[in-house]
Amino acid sequence: MGLLHLLTLALPLLHLPTPTLSLRIACSQQWVEHTPLVYAARNFYNPAAASSDTATITNGGVPNLSSDRSIDLAANAETQGLKNYARNKNIRLIGILVEVTYRLVAHKGAGINTLADLRGKRIGTIAGTSAEVFVRQLLATAGLAQGDYTTVNGNVCMKAPCAADTFPAQFSGRRIDAFGVWETSVELGIQAVGEGDVVVFKNASVYREVYSLYSTQEKLRDAGTRQRIVQFVRALNQTYEVFKRPTEAVYSMVGQTVNVDVPVLKNVWEDHVWGPGSLGKDLVDFLEREDQYLARTDRRQAFTRAELEQFVDTSVYEEAMRG
Ligand SMILES: *[C@@H]1O[C@H](CO)[C@@H](O)[C@H](O)[C@H]1NC(C)=O
Ligand SMILES: *[C@@H]1O[C@H](CO)[C@@H](O)[C@H](O)[C@H]1NC(C)=O
Ligand SMILES: *[C@@H]1O[C@H](CO)[C@@H](O)[C@H](O)[C@H]1NC(C)=O
Repeated sequence: MGLLHLLTLALPLLHLPTPTLSLRIACSQQWVEHTPLVYAARNFYNPAAASSDTATITNGGVPNLSSDRSIDLAANAETQGLKNYARNKNIRLIGILVEVTYRLVAHKGAGINTLADLRGKRIGTIAGTSAEVFVRQLLATAGLAQGDYTTVNGNVCMKAPCAADTFPAQFSGRRIDAFGVWETSVELGIQAVGEGDVVVFKNASVYREVYSLYSTQEKLRDAGTRQRIVQFVRALNQTYEVFKRPTEAVYSMVGQTVNVDVPVLKNVWEDHVWGPGSLGKDLVDFLEREDQYLARTDRRQAFTRAELEQFVDTSVYEEAMRG
């Protein structure tokens, strides 16, 4: 083969992008839940000190794992995890970032003192999300079926003043009698109306958001990617310790990252149990109960126990903790 021929063959290679060793993580960057990813990437993720490996967070979520092969990890509540697993059986839940007890706030002035009093009321929540799962499952414990109350869509608000189409504004304007969604909206709703005039319901055993870390079977089979993911999970493990005993600097970093006022953030912090939680039988039990509900609303077959056990892959976390 002549030299010219060799060059011609090699030339296209020169135009290939240099292989990047950065981990790409897709998640919604608006919520308190995702902030351990930011903290871990900035402070602890350092897979090879001499290299320039980084972890980059981009907007998105679990669906990106199926649509964009450059995405290695994603974070979302278990609800989106299960919905996407129905479309792509290669998705794996590999860790828990935070478990959050969602809250539902209601107007005492509307005659609401117990969950059963929500019969016939207008309740704000976001259809198709973990918030709706929470509201419906919580009300079901008081014997209320879906037709016993009206759900009203709205937007979340992370910082006052809240726009008219957000739940805290709908709630203080009495356009809804109650609402249930992730924080900090509920806290802002309580503050807008005043603690004395509202009643707050929550029950972590009925519903808690299990905000999790996901990857795919393909990514986890690739030795290099897996090693970076394991290293990132170690960085998260260090982050949880920091988040469990937050300093003012941590509150301030989280507040700035998601544009939340620190006093509001402090009020909701106790409802956040920072990972890794349990990836064991109780998680699979929890997912199985939620999947029964999702399968009905999404009109699909519920997953078998074996499928749910396959969805939760504990091996990455175990590998990370072996050090
Ligand atoms: C993730 O998916 C969303 C919705 O399809 C899209 O808008 C976004 O650009 C994707 N992000 C990445 C990093 O691929
Ligand atoms: C939470 O829900 C469970 C299951 O319905 C129930 O047994 C328990 O009493 C509830 N806890 C509270 C504090 O209401
Ligand atoms: C995980 O975090 C715990 C608590 O900080 C720590 O004791 C342990 O060494 C960490 N494990 C690894 C592998 O970093």
